[in-house]
Amino acid sequence: MTKPIWIKYAANLATLASEKKGPRSKEAMSDLGLIEDGSLWMENGLIQAVGTTKEIEELYADRLHEAEVFDASGYLVTPGLVDPHTHVVYGGSRASEFEMRLEGATYMDIMNAGGGIHATTRMTREASEEELMEQTLRRLDSFLAHGVTTVEGKSGYGMNLETELKQLRVMKKLQEKHPIDLVPTFMGAHAVPNEFKGREDDFVDHLINEMLPIVAKEKLAEFNDVFCEKGVFTPEQSERILEAGKNYGLIPKIHADEIESYGGAELAAKIGAISAEHLLKASEDGIQDMAKSGTIACLLPATALYLREEAAAGRRMIDEGVAVAISTDCNPGSSPTTSMPLVMNLACISMRLTPAEALTAATYNAACAINRQEKVGSLEVGKQADVVLWNVENYQELQYLFGVNHVKSVWKKGVQVVK
Ligand code: NIG
Ligand code: FE
Repeated sequence: MTKPIWIKYAANLATLASEKKGPRSKEAMSDLGLIEDGSLWMENGLIQAVGTTKEIEELYADRLHEAEVFDASGYLVTPGLVDPHTHVVYGGSRASEFEMRLEGATYMDIMNAGGGIHATTRMTREASEEELMEQTLRRLDSFLAHGVTTVEGKSGYGMNLETELKQLRVMKKLQEKHPIDLVPTFMGAHAVPNEFKGREDDFVDHLINEMLPIVAKEKLAEFNDVFCEKGVFTPEQSERILEAGKNYGLIPKIHADEIESYGGAELAAKIGAISAEHLLKASEDGIQDMAKSGTIACLLPATALYLREEAAAGRRMIDEGVAVAISTDCNPGSSPTTSMPLVMNLACISMRLTPAEALTAATYNAACAINRQEKVGSLEVGKQADVVLWNVENYQELQYLFGVNHVKSVWKKGVQVVK
């Protein structure tokens, strides 16, 4: 029998709990359910009670001696962070492209010349399953060290059935090897592979008829994502792919309006995508459509910074009623980071989210973007005991002292995984 864990005296405990269920926008993103002198009782991998230290002392009066106690005085406690958008499984590195971009080449120039996503596709096709596992494990360790306890991961560096399945299987196997919960997304439509160059519609047919049915049959993915971008997949092709996925129970997501305004946000709203990603160049109509449809905007300010582009209009989206989540976009080309704390800082600095909104975007709303809000994203009775203890007193300090990893301890399903 493992001992119950009792965290007590937390300077501030941000529960993110709310009566209202579902993605949050406007004022609801500022309500962190804060408890001063907070306390948390975890047992059997779940949160059993949350309240002030006095309340928990009364509730468990006859069992306090059984618990392993953590004194959190002077520290902030939050739910484990959720990263709802990554390309974490990939082979090789693209450090040389980083230098090319610094010298003036654009992201799309490099991709159109056979580099970018195509370069990682070559390296991922060549890598063995073991090599991919090994590389991905190291990245997952880094996520955990930054307070992230749930990570969405996409395929998309195969663009043929064999390698797409290899990436998705790696994610499945990593579930048994690593404490982080991985949530798999099929993204066969990440680019048109070289062998289909000039035959884009044939690739779309191939993906719909040959890849989707097998991914679905093997239950290797929950979501289906498309890079809807000028020169990659048109809105019409994207719609076909995402509608086909729906028939297999795969929930649509879209990489939308990242480089150019291309109707991606509008499409996401139209087909009922759970989220639209990037949105750097989303149109005003697209933002209004998303507010109406309840599509979550998954914003990636580290990608904007890394591509030296202006970040998405996060502030305006929230004011217009769009629920905003944030993510690293961890990938070898446009955002090779595993730091959600940095992404929260950037959400404030470059998108003018408030510190409270940034925390909601990285926890509860992020969980909603991957359909995990019943299990993670807030500290509420019955939810997974995924908890972070931060070396700061409150959430304002967490966002203000930027570019620093303030993680002190992490518990995943009630087990301390970062000491
Ligand atoms: O989300 N934009 C498309 N996909 C990724 C980048 C992938 C890569 O460059 O390898 C993104 O930015
Ligand atoms: Fe991405």
